[in-house]
Amino acid sequence: MQNKKRETFSSGLAVFFATLGSAVGLGNIWRFPYITGMNGGGGFLFIYILCMLLVGIPIMISEFYIGRKTRSNAVGAFRKLNKDNFKFIGLMGVVSAFLIMFFYSGVAGWVYSYVFKSLMGTFKGVTPKQAENLFTSTISNYGTAYLWQVIVIVVVSTILIMGVKNGIEKVTKTLMPILFILIILIDIRAITLSNSFEGLKFLFKIDFSKVTKASILVALGLAFFKLSIGMGTMITYGSYFTEDNDMPQTALKVAFSDLLVSLLAGVAIFPAVFSFNMEPTAGPGLLFMTIPLVFSKMPFGRVLLTLFFLLTSFAATTAMISLVEVPVAYLAEEKKMDRKKAVILTAIIILLFGFLATASIAGDNFIASIKLFGKNFFDFFDFISSNILLPLGGLFITIFIGYVVKKEDVLNELSNNGRINNKNILNAFVFVVKYVAPILVVVIFLNSLGVFGK
Ligand code: PFF
Repeated sequence: MQNKKRETFSSGLAVFFATLGSAVGLGNIWRFPYITGMNGGGGFLFIYILCMLLVGIPIMISEFYIGRKTRSNAVGAFRKLNKDNFKFIGLMGVVSAFLIMFFYSGVAGWVYSYVFKSLMGTFKGVTPKQAENLFTSTISNYGTAYLWQVIVIVVVSTILIMGVKNGIEKVTKTLMPILFILIILIDIRAITLSNSFEGLKFLFKIDFSKVTKASILVALGLAFFKLSIGMGTMITYGSYFTEDNDMPQTALKVAFSDLLVSLLAGVAIFPAVFSFNMEPTAGPGLLFMTIPLVFSKMPFGRVLLTLFFLLTSFAATTAMISLVEVPVAYLAEEKKMDRKKAVILTAIIILLFGFLATASIAGDNFIASIKLFGKNFFDFFDFISSNILLPLGGLFITIFIGYVVKKEDVLNELSNNGRINNKNILNAFVFVVKYVAPILVVVIFLNSLGVFGK
């Protein structure tokens, strides 16, 4: 191996929490509720879960395999498997990581700023209208929003410079369980609001009448985004896995925990939406407009609200660590760049383009008036990464695992050379990776292009 002794996570539990730390983030708490809200609720959720089961989990397992087998970054992994022709998958992943970071760091900045605002008591006794205005002013003052984004990027870079083990492990292991408990507390409060049942019905009643062709692609993209797959993050993380880790099981556990956190976030938000007469289709501001209301009339509301945004900011931070790790591991290992330099270079690129995203969503300025394919920079970065590059990356990974790599190799690695007895799971995995996942991705792409009729 050309790299010096490569670090690994210290135990199975550390693997689980670090991987979960990548999966659980703004995707669950911010994105899942608002996207589900915009796409009609329960029917969309149903399609999302199918995408997660039939496409997401198999791709996650495939990425773990590639990563641990080669102990390499997303690009080097394909080189080590002697499949240079497939290096482009890793390179696409590096591009996706940047595109996602451009807007993700901005949204994380909103969250950081909400920690501060909650602490100062800004939301005490707010009405729905005021909560909406506070959000609008947060994003429209893009100078301040950008400042928070810069703080986010500095925090993430600092943790990354500290290294894989110390940085990632410690943070995730402690904080995930606390976040989980806090969301359950919010759920209890949300369910006891008046009219909360309407919200639960919206989220859980399977109704396809509002599901469009475009929203099926959105569900697929959301699965990729939330599970951090299709761009080599899980290849990179797999490369730090311990030799005895049961990777299919880890993938299942991570995917279901990720789903659970999303559903709990949905149960916190939708009852509030209906109880306060707001619109589920409100878009990216949904979380920021509803959660302060849930807490505003609660004992210790201010403390709990601050804690909620604080923990959400931690979840966002661990997810970003894994995102930035993709280009950093690539630059450090393939381009032989000093790790610290790689982090700094990556941070500078994110700072530059991140500004475009943040200014473009503020409205009423020159950058916001620029449109790429009819979208502002924020939406453009988001759409190209989540709905195009990640599913495409995932498609290539399934083809690679299903048709290029030797099946025995995959089965050996995924059973830890026969040490775990998981034949049934592996058979199902091979079948899905070969015949189900790639076909579904292609069909969903074609469908969204209108190939099967309007
Ligand atoms: N899965 C993260 C979330 O749901 O917030 C976002 C993310 C992290 C996407 C890492 C992609 C990735 F590689």
